[in-house]
Amino acid sequence: MDRLAAVTDWQAHEAEAQQAIAAATTAEALDDARVHYLGRKSELVQALRGVRDRESGMLLNGVRTRLEAAVEERENTLAAEELDRRLRTEVVDVTVPGERLPVGHLHPITQVRRIVEDAFLGLGYEVRDDREVETVEYNLDKLAFSPTHSTRSPRDTFFFDETHLLRTETSPSQIHIMEEKQPPIYMVSIGRVYRRDAITATRNPIFHQFEGLAVDKGITLADLKGTLLHVMRALYGPDRRVRFRTHFFPFTEPSIEPDVSCGICGGVGCRTCKYSGWLEMGGAGMVDPQVLANVGLDPEEWSGFAFGCGLERAAQLRHDIPEIRPLWAGDLRVLRQF
Ligand code: PHE
Repeated sequence: MDRLAAVTDWQAHEAEAQQAIAAATTAEALDDARVHYLGRKSELVQALRGVRDRESGMLLNGVRTRLEAAVEERENTLAAEELDRRLRTEVVDVTVPGERLPVGHLHPITQVRRIVEDAFLGLGYEVRDDREVETVEYNLDKLAFSPTHSTRSPRDTFFFDETHLLRTETSPSQIHIMEEKQPPIYMVSIGRVYRRDAITATRNPIFHQFEGLAVDKGITLADLKGTLLHVMRALYGPDRRVRFRTHFFPFTEPSIEPDVSCGICGGVGCRTCKYSGWLEMGGAGMVDPQVLANVGLDPEEWSGFAFGCGLERAAQLRHDIPEIRPLWAGDLRVLRQF
């Protein structure tokens, strides 16, 4: 055994090293111990470099192998403990409710629009979307408005010039589709219309209408009443009552106005229904023979019905909203309720 190997008590040295390794409770502490006892400058490695005889070599290599094994084992133990600790402390409780994402919803007018679309698609109608900038010809002339009708006045209607205006109703869609295709026609046209009205509880200068048109052979007023009843039931449920009053429109003959019983007062009378118990739903009637002739259809061969209703009015009735204004105000405190 050579000198270098002999001066150190390697048994005691190994015991000391083993203790230091076992005492390390963190990866850093273990690394410190490894560097101290097995690093390039450690007593053991220095001694190994100077080994000349076989006996010393076997002794020191034995110490090194055992210490290396001890370090590795301690390393594994510490890693397992660390994993265990993290599994215990960093658990995610999947049963805790998550944060609610702010999800919006459709505007009540859009909701009603879709109900109307569904009701008519179910009846086999096609859904249309027409232009909002119309001509006098399509908004008025071809719909048989008389030369003195008040809708022709710039007091009632937004004109761009002599011939162009913002459509005052969705009825021009009747003309468009009848010019585009031959009957049978079953269509509903939905969109915005414009009137020079002051903003009040019941009127807004921009609003939406849905316009129905059926042209076929042998269409009667009974078909119109049945269709309107179907749509009113789809919108308001079977509880509301519907009645029809006679009326006048330039493009229907005879003309009627469907009313729905007021849901706010239950038909007794209130401010919203102007104390009548009934709410006006819009207009309807049998397509005037003159309108059929205006688009080149023979009134002897074809007949039809048409109707137009306000979507805002429908949304109001559905939710018992007493005014039209909240539907255009964009106040989320109101809209979130529907
Ligand atoms: N266009 C009419 C209005 O806005 C309603 C209506 C449509 C009447 C179709 C009869 C037929 O008042």
